[in-house]
Amino acid sequence: MEFDEKRFQIIDHPLVQHKLSILRNRATGTKQFRELVTELAVLEGYEAMRDFPLEDVVVETPLESTVCKQIAGKKVAIIPILRAGLGMVDGILTLTPSARVGHVGMYRDPVTHEPHQYYCKFPPDIQNRTCLVVDPMLATGGSLTAAIKFLREAGVRDIRCLTLVSAPEGVKAVLDYDQDVRLYTCSLDRQLNENAYILPGLGDAGDRIYGTK
Ligand code: PRP
Ligand code: URA
Repeated sequence: MEFDEKRFQIIDHPLVQHKLSILRNRATGTKQFRELVTELAVLEGYEAMRDFPLEDVVVETPLESTVCKQIAGKKVAIIPILRAGLGMVDGILTLTPSARVGHVGMYRDPVTHEPHQYYCKFPPDIQNRTCLVVDPMLATGGSLTAAIKFLREAGVRDIRCLTLVSAPEGVKAVLDYDQDVRLYTCSLDRQLNENAYILPGLGDAGDRIYGTK
């Protein structure tokens, strides 16, 4: 499947690919898994913010005044999809420490794979912020499209989604659902299995982050 390169980017940096391989390994334990999710979120967040606009600022160095660059007042909100998305928040916060964090609580029905919302809380000025929606796994796309819907209803214009592993079915669903959203991932995997788990994937991200299985 081919996707629009302007809206869909696979982060192919060697560091990202190396860390992702360790993440996939069934022998990787909870502590290391959680650390790797944070590290991958930092590297992916760095790419997702590459086009943030800059403005000039005058800085006094110890020797003279000089014109430097600073980010031009970009206001960011990080939107983790609970639970697994929470694992990516701290990594993004190291890049944008003053970002606000809004939460979307969603779980997939184990039989129908449909997402069910159980929580949603956004910062009050969400419509003025660039929203980085984070979730390690994009499978059918049900959870992510629901989160995008809530953000659009709240008036958000700039939505960037960051996942670690994506299935082609989910990427298509998200890009078809919203023509303006941008999607970043570290891997486009082969397919979904009969339980809508990603193959080869890494298993259940929430369970592996929190050690619940
Ligand atoms: C997982 C994952 C995504 C969703 C992806 O969450 O973290 O949110 O499934 O699947 P989809 O693209 O088919 O919607 P899950 O529902 O297992 O909840 P959890 O994070 O609480 O474990
Ligand atoms: N959610 C996960 O955590 N893993 C998958 O492969 C699919 C959905």
